[in-house]
Amino acid sequence: MKALVLAGGSGTRLRPITHTSAKQLVPVANKPILFFGLEQIRDAGITEVGIIVGDTHAEIEAAVGDGSALGIEPTYLRQESPAGLAHAVLTAAEWLGDDDFVMFLGDNLIEGGIGHLVEAFERDRPAAQVLLKAVEDPSRFGVAELDDAGRVVRLVEKPEHPPSDLALVGVYLFSPAILDAARRIEPSDRGELEITDAIQRLLDDGQEVRASLIEGWWLDTGKKDDLLEANRIVLGSVRRRVEGEVDHDSELVGEVVVEAGAQVVRSSVRGPAVIGPGARLEDAYVGPFTSIANDCVVERCEIEFSVLLERARVHDVARIEGSLLGRDVVVSRTQRRPSAHRLMLGDHGLVEISEP
Ligand code: TTP
Repeated sequence: MKALVLAGGSGTRLRPITHTSAKQLVPVANKPILFFGLEQIRDAGITEVGIIVGDTHAEIEAAVGDGSALGIEPTYLRQESPAGLAHAVLTAAEWLGDDDFVMFLGDNLIEGGIGHLVEAFERDRPAAQVLLKAVEDPSRFGVAELDDAGRVVRLVEKPEHPPSDLALVGVYLFSPAILDAARRIEPSDRGELEITDAIQRLLDDGQEVRASLIEGWWLDTGKKDDLLEANRIVLGSVRRRVEGEVDHDSELVGEVVVEAGAQVVRSSVRGPAVIGPGARLEDAYVGPFTSIANDCVVERCEIEFSVLLERARVHDVARIEGSLLGRDVVVSRTQRRPSAHRLMLGDHGLVEISEP
């Protein structure tokens, strides 16, 4: 069994963060979301991992490297354009050979890992096995229609009128039959070779496609709010660890990680929260479900339910919530006249101002 991890794509829904970096490397609890998936793959006993990369290949390769830190042996497979999940499978065809494989979307994560799924697949060897999760807004996803016996009869990509509330989770198990099916489909209306169409082709050929419903959480971090939710859930399992400096005027409540080299000065941190190496909090309040990456600065400010990437700096701002700040972003207050908001925003940035 091999693993194929998709870390290409265009990441339009996470702009402007993805103008400058790969969305699979956006951190959740200060660790790239991609690493959680790679660890789940390793924990399932799979070491041969093909990683599909696109325009952000250099960054992904720099982060994963030779895989030794993660216990995997990666092979980087360049996809010329983000032409769809089935296109990514075809890109990997030669590397996959005749092996079964688990396909894992690099910005997805499921509770409890994939070991039990891999075992079940290897035991029964259907042509494909998909995971489904009941969701409130199925039209954002690939959606499955099941018959009364719970067998998959139809799959549709982002349907306007979903046939069920069962979304396709971004972890799939395939026999090599999927390669032949992917070769026999046409691009969809949005111009992509859809994995749903390839699996539908298996169904139309009378091959067995199994579905299992997952009860635990499923994280898809492709959008800001989903990323904040993923950060909330993953932070839920961090345990208190204080290796940085915390002065006597500061207070840490609950599950708080202060990494070595971080400084907490006259501040209060209410967990779960993580403060990365080299970060500094001064006269600040950091509330639950906040991840502050390496070398960030938070001064005279309250921040909660947010993710700050490396070197972001926030000072003298009353309160920030539900926010994702990219690397080197600065948010500050000024006394300059005329009194006004002054912004320097990248393409596709988003600012929501709450006037007092
Ligand atoms: P998506 O999130 O469906 O697609 P996207 O990355 O193009 O994002 P957006 O819709 O915001 O523009 O992709 C799921 C995962 O698969 C993600 O980790 C990127 C990866 N991917 C590829 O590697 N190759 C591809 O051709 C596509 C479409 C996605």
